[in-house]
Amino acid sequence: MREADGHREQNTGFYYIETYGCQMNVYDSEVLAGHLENMGYLPVAQEEDCDVLVLNTCAVRQKAEEKVFSRLGRLRPLKKTKPHLLIVLWGCMAQQEHVSQRVRERFSFVDLVGGTHSLDRFPQLLEKARQSNRTIISREEEGDREGFPVKRMDDIKAWVPISHGCNNYCTYCIVPYVRGPEKSRSPQAIIREVKGLIEEGYKEITLLGQNVNSYGKDLDKGMDFADLLQILDRLEGLVHLRYMTSHPRDFNEKIIQNIRQGKKICEHIHLPLQSGSNKVLKMMNRGYTREYYLSLTRKIADLLPYYSLTTDLIVGFPGEEEKDFDDTLEMVQKIKFDAAYTFVYSPRPGTKAMHMKNQVAPEIKKKRIMLLNEIQNEISLEKNRQLLGTEQIVLVEGRSKTDARVYAARTRTNKIVHFTSHKNLLGALIAVKIIEAKPWTLTGEYR
Ligand code: SAH
Ligand code: SF4
Ligand code: F3S
Repeated sequence: MREADGHREQNTGFYYIETYGCQMNVYDSEVLAGHLENMGYLPVAQEEDCDVLVLNTCAVRQKAEEKVFSRLGRLRPLKKTKPHLLIVLWGCMAQQEHVSQRVRERFSFVDLVGGTHSLDRFPQLLEKARQSNRTIISREEEGDREGFPVKRMDDIKAWVPISHGCNNYCTYCIVPYVRGPEKSRSPQAIIREVKGLIEEGYKEITLLGQNVNSYGKDLDKGMDFADLLQILDRLEGLVHLRYMTSHPRDFNEKIIQNIRQGKKICEHIHLPLQSGSNKVLKMMNRGYTREYYLSLTRKIADLLPYYSLTTDLIVGFPGEEEKDFDDTLEMVQKIKFDAAYTFVYSPRPGTKAMHMKNQVAPEIKKKRIMLLNEIQNEISLEKNRQLLGTEQIVLVEGRSKTDARVYAARTRTNKIVHFTSHKNLLGALIAVKIIEAKPWTLTGEYR
């Protein structure tokens, strides 16, 4: 683990952060940890031992919100036995009115509710919460997102946001409402951050954004995502350059060409399809058709000698009929994704889809997702089996907590490979022979 930069106070207590949701939140938690350490707090492994407890939340599906509310319920006794404990509800969920309302009514022991917009003001807000016996609810305008202290949680791979927010307003999605409109960071700030991380010894950088492919459109600097990839690819010392998430509408041939020419840009493309039905795609406001998506994947196959393709799929979007679902299955069978993250549509307050007619019954949604998962698992397994007996170059990223000889590594195509060795291989780029294939992971042999 790395130290956060900046001024550090004398030890004032201990903190514990629990992170829900996507990589953006993982990064934001690293910033929260940075702030807390600059305020003099130290991390602890047990929540019972902390003085500040942060839940960094996600609002993307209802289940994610329910999980946090039931977690809050379970925290009530801890707060009773430890009245000085500060409980913070942070992140995307905390950005919504109905959530702060519910906290006020049912969980008034929470000390601070603050969203992604107030990340720069976290220390002041926490201090305010410490001095108050009411719940402090931050409803401020989006603040600055540069110059944060970041306490990185990993020594080998690091996250670097290149944009914040989203302008796409897919009709099912809460993200534009809780993260605000899309804003690109300046190329100089990104390049400086990546260079600094390489100097510190990081091997793998993942660029983050809700739609990385539209990077730069709001900057007028004549730089797009493909250009940014190319510049970062040339930085000495970097091993793997990854990015997420792509949007099919903005993923263009220039990006594919730069992946092909790049040395560090990994040949893994996460390209959320969401649905295979043109009718549903239109209702989702995704801005492409199945034919367009197919031609894009064909272009990728034509231009890249090897690659992996993963996707996100939603079943049970309002108005999805059996024939629309069949269209999704057909696309899945035709394209053969290496992996798919599948979700049951969840209505989100404030989004357009929530008010659409013909919401799909829960038992139909369940049936569809089970069938989709069954088909996709077979495809993932078939794809992974093709690697049996081959040598793969992997970056060793971590080791098992229970057995230090068991390593986790990843191929450029983002396949996770577990293997055993007595040597210290963390951060090394090595060749392993694939001896076992499962749908989500591979087992390798290192000699
Ligand atoms: N910006 C990224 C990630 C968005 S959230 C993107 O555009 O792909 C990650 C995934 O959650 C989405 O791709 C979508 O498949 C899923 N998702 C978002 N809103 C959802 C909802 N209301 N119900 C079910 N799944 C949802
Ligand atoms: Fe949500 Fe669509 Fe934006 Fe992704 S692109 S964050 S799914 S609105
Ligand atoms: Fe969830 Fe917020 Fe990410 S809603 S998926 S944590 S951007």
